[in-house]
Amino acid sequence: MIEQTLSIIKPDATARNLIGHILSRFEEQGLSVVAMQMCTLSLPEAEGFYHVHRERPFFQDLVAFMCSAPVVISVLEGEDAIARNRTVMGATDPAQAGEGTIRAMHGRSIEENSVHGSDSAETARFEIDYFFARGKVYSYDLS
Ligand code: CMP
Repeated sequence: MIEQTLSIIKPDATARNLIGHILSRFEEQGLSVVAMQMCTLSLPEAEGFYHVHRERPFFQDLVAFMCSAPVVISVLEGEDAIARNRTVMGATDPAQAGEGTIRAMHGRSIEENSVHGSDSAETARFEIDYFFARGKVYSYDLS
């Protein structure tokens, strides 16, 4: 099924000039960029985005990190885009991520793990709507 998912290239990756490389990995694996913005998140924006993690011990560190440098936020579209993106990213902890995945190649720690991707269809809908106004997401192939 053709799906859309939300991707964030995190501050550790933008700071190391990895935007182009990471976007190439998505495209090589059959994912198309259908919306994109680069910005520095405010604290309230990052807190709202990660609100499901607000009770977790790492929450404050995570939102501070996400606001520490610019991020690239995109909507990726393709066949099974949500699972496909998670495969391309690799496990949350770069130490556990499979060879050739973005997190294995570039992640520095479980927090500075270079990319975020939606983990379900419901999350993808929330996350896309959080950053992109309706009508600002293109679609190559949604029928
Ligand atoms: P992400 O896919 O952006 O979703 C939530 C983020 O929390 C996750 O990637 C990690 O970067 C971050 N995080 C920090 N510490 C932990 C932890 N102990 N377990 C899971 N996620 C963590």
